[in-house]
Parts: sequence; structure tokens; C-alpha cells
Amino acid sequence: MDFPFLLAPMAELSHRPLRELIEEFGGCSEYFTEMISAGAFLAAGPFETWYADAGPCPEKVVYQLIGSDAASLARAAGILDSRDCLGIDINMGCSAPAITRTGAGVRWMADPDKAGTMIALVRKKVKRRLSVKLRIGLADNFEYLLDFCRRLEAEGVERITLHPRTAKEKFKRTARWEYVAALRRELGIPVAGNGDIASAGEMLRRAFPSGGPSGASGCPVMIGRLAVRQPWVFARALGLAKEAPEDAAFPADFEKTGLMFLELLARYQPREFHLSRARRFFGYFCDNLKWGNYVKTLLNRETDLAGLERTWQGYFREHPEEKFETRRVR
Ligand SMILES: Cc1cc2nc3c(=O)[nH]c(=O)nc-3n(C[C@H](O)[C@H](O)[C@H](O)COP(=O)(O)O)c2cc1C
Repeated sequence: MDFPFLLAPMAELSHRPLRELIEEFGGCSEYFTEMISAGAFLAAGPFETWYADAGPCPEKVVYQLIGSDAASLARAAGILDSRDCLGIDINMGCSAPAITRTGAGVRWMADPDKAGTMIALVRKKVKRRLSVKLRIGLADNFEYLLDFCRRLEAEGVERITLHPRTAKEKFKRTARWEYVAALRRELGIPVAGNGDIASAGEMLRRAFPSGGPSGASGCPVMIGRLAVRQPWVFARALGLAKEAPEDAAFPADFEKTGLMFLELLARYQPREFHLSRARRFFGYFCDNLKWGNYVKTLLNRETDLAGLERTWQGYFREHPEEKFETRRVR
């Protein structure tokens, strides 16, 4: 059985410590990195080596690049492609104003010719798999999206990931998964779907829309925030797919997982990143806890990893009943 689950690119989250943590639980098929600015990467900024650290399993890592200059994207793609990795992804989905103002991210979707020319340039430099992650576009127009993707396919893109929301919607409104299905029917290349998946059971339903997984080849499905809340969710989906509920039923140990993450952060990220990355991670991971907002507030007051660790352990001393997961959503 093909097990087609991918970790989404997420700024300040999809880094080596999170991949290490997910691997501890059994891993997933592909790990997209957080977006890497092509310009900063080429300028050899002080933190670029951290962004481009593909450990612990480079063969499953897809480097995601963002930028507005075609030549820079192509050069950066060529350099990363020459390293051990699975492929290169171009970000055409980010709708943060700081990014779109520069012409990067989802702004590429405003001009199919410009985007096609850029992809042709990148394609010349990339020998591994070339993919693009995008949204529906600047407006809700499926025909436009389809033509845009056909253009990318014609220029040599081998995989599309669709987060089916418009640029303006950010995380509002539910993701339009029917657009993922429609795009899969129309394009000759695989289309990964992404958006709002909330449980291991839902991962399976999205990957195998027409029924049971046994023997079938699944449609690629990308998981973002859920994988931060539950780094074990890929393992759990695999357990469910094998119809081995005992695999799927291991109780997650929240305290231990949080401590493990802090340890990985100390080992694999520079000191300057510790607090921002920890806050991002616990911003989602604390959703597992009954008093999650309270813990987040306490964690946000800390100024170093040792303080975060003390606060985290202190919470479970006060609330030992919260240490293990007691309810699970299938
Ligand atoms: C904190 C955060 C950072 C993100 N950074 C990126 C990014 O660097 N590149 C990208 O293509 N998408 C980025 N995204 C979007 C995710 O890849 C994904 O499309 C989105 O979260 C929807 O998937 P989900 O509902 O499974 O989280 C980010 C999302 C979040 C929450």
C-alpha cells in the first residue's frame, strides 16, 4: 500500500526538530521544509544553513523556495537540488502581505505567463521532482486555476499541492476539497490536497476517497497544523489503515513529547530561534490540554529553554491527569 502523507511547509514549524519528532513516532512519506527565501539563501544569510538542514532523512525532504525573482529562484533551486533531497517546491500560495507585496507567493498566480516563464527557468536547474504549492488563486475561479495549473504542467511541474482557499481567505471558510478532486480529474500529474484535516481518520478518508485503503494507491494528502498538535498522527493513520487498532491506540504522552521537542530544539536550532520556534510549536501543541491557553500564557513568559522546560513539567505536576491523551478523535 502506498502511504501518501506529507508534512506541510510551515514557517517556523517545519524544521528539523519537528521532523525528528515525527520520525520518533514512525515518520511520514515526505517532509516539506518551511519556505526558504531564494534571495536570502543566495546571499548566504546567517541562518540559511538552519533553514536548509534536511536532517534526519534528506531523502524524504522537499525544499520549498519562495521569491519574486525568477533568476534567483532558479539559482537557489539548482543549488538545493544538487544536495541530497526528494525535490524542490515553489511557493505560490503564501498570502501574507509582507510576501505578496514583493510579488512572491500567491502573487505568481496573478500572471500565468510570468509564472510559466519562471517555472521553465527553474525546471532547467532542477533534476529532481519539481512541484508547486498554491491556493485557488486571487479569486474563486476554478477555470482560471485549472488553466494556470495546465500551464505549470506544460512547463514541467510534476506535482501540485492545492490548499483550496483563495488568497484573501487565509484560514477563513472551510477548504474546498471538491476543487482538489476536480483538479485531479483534469491534470495528468498528481495533485496533493491540503487543508483543515483534523484527525487520522480524516487523513485516511481524504487519501482514499473511494473506500478502504487495502492494496489501493492513495491520493497524496498534506497535513499542516494537525501534525504539530499530534506529531504521532501519521503513525496513527498508518495503524488505522492496517486495521490494527492496537497500533493506532497508543496513548500519546503529552509531557514527554513536549520535553522531547525542547531537547530537539536545543540540539538542532540556533539559540536565536529557540523562543520563537517553541512558542509556535506550543501554540498548537497546547491545544491537546484542557488548560492549554493557561499553559501557553505561562510558556510565553519564559525567556529560555530551561524556563520552558520547568514550566511544562510544572503543569503536569499540578495536573497529572493531563499527561496522557484520554480522548481520541477518529
Ligand atoms: C504557521 C504556519 C506557517 C505556514 N508557512 C507556510 C510556508 O512556509 N509555505 C507554505 O506553502 N505554506 C505555509 N503554510 C500553509 C500550510 O502549508 C497549509 O497550507 C495550511 O496550514 C493548511 O493546512 P492545514 O489545515 O493542514 O494546517 C503555513 C501555515 C501555518 C499555520
